[in-house]
Amino acid sequence: MFKISQRRYLGNKNSILPFIESIIQSEIGHFDSLCDIFSGTGTVGNYFNTKDNKIILNDLLYHNFVSLNAFLNQDDFNKDALLKIINDFNKLSTEKENYFSNHFAGTYFSKKNAIKIGFIREEIRNLFISGKINLKEKFILLTSLNYSIDRIANTVGHYDAFIKKAFKDTAIEMKLIDTSIEKNASNEIYNKDANLLIRDIECDILYLDPPYNSRQYSDAYHLLENLSLWQKPEVFGLAKKFDRSKIKSEYCKVNASVLFDDLIQNAKCKYILLSYNNMGNSGNGRSNAKISDEQIMSSLSKRGKVKVFEQDYKEFNTGTEKRNHNKERVFFVKLEQ
Ligand SMILES: C[S@@+](CC[C@H](N)C(=O)[O-])C[C@H]1O[C@@H](n2cnc3c(N)ncnc32)[C@H](O)[C@@H]1O
Repeated sequence: MFKISQRRYLGNKNSILPFIESIIQSEIGHFDSLCDIFSGTGTVGNYFNTKDNKIILNDLLYHNFVSLNAFLNQDDFNKDALLKIINDFNKLSTEKENYFSNHFAGTYFSKKNAIKIGFIREEIRNLFISGKINLKEKFILLTSLNYSIDRIANTVGHYDAFIKKAFKDTAIEMKLIDTSIEKNASNEIYNKDANLLIRDIECDILYLDPPYNSRQYSDAYHLLENLSLWQKPEVFGLAKKFDRSKIKSEYCKVNASVLFDDLIQNAKCKYILLSYNNMGNSGNGRSNAKISDEQIMSSLSKRGKVKVFEQDYKEFNTGTEKRNHNKERVFFVKLEQ
């Protein structure tokens, strides 16, 4: 079974979950609700999910909304029926070309795998439209598909480019995802801009993990977004990206600090925890942090006294885990107003 943490995702916080937990334990103790408003894979919200609390999850990208629902919403699903469907998908053999193979064969995937991925995606659509699976089951099958293609993609972990040499041709193998709905009864899941959502929610702990540089997640994961949305758009260039103008994040642009301030000033919560990388001006334009430490401190300190926690970390970067000189930092505020 695929676990929520088994996805290659830029900036995922798997390796610092115990660090975040230690801050919550020492500074907060018990809490009833936590909002992970830039959820990505959902690994942070998932870590703190229990049957007695409420986790609010949200991401701008639809394919993340799909997997957040698959792992963390409360809707029922038929595990045996899904296992049978997945088993049939794994066994199937087809040579019928489709949207996915027409555009992606010989790029991120071999022709054989691209044909199979496109066929499976169309089947998931048909199963849902004909009422043979419910929405939760559709979310689970799509997540299983996204997790399994991540394992065979001819990439270094994202879809900004594919590897031109050393073509991988491992056959795609879908598996069920590791989820049960017992802990999910109170959870809420959204696919909204964080600055809009913040106006509608309340929670004890607000955890913020926004993108910190100009690298757009919609560029890095366009292929999973395309496959999950399945609107079969035109694709462009060598990387075969579709028009992502509506899903670009403002946190990767020049006015990130204005949005950040708006988010913080509109938060209705007791505590804020913020993860923000300290790359500073590293010399590489794309890696430079979009919000300066001064801007972060200025926004946070309007709501209360700020504490900064630091730990060495392994950065997930272009498919390899490597140590670098950076420290993982979590800014903590207990809100006074
Ligand atoms: C650093 S990643 C989060 C990683 C996550 N904590 C994990 O462990 O997987 C930042 C996420 O913010 C999302 N995002 C960017 N801009 C957003 C916005 N305005 N509203 C909501 N989500 C946004 C991106 O799609 C991306 O998934």
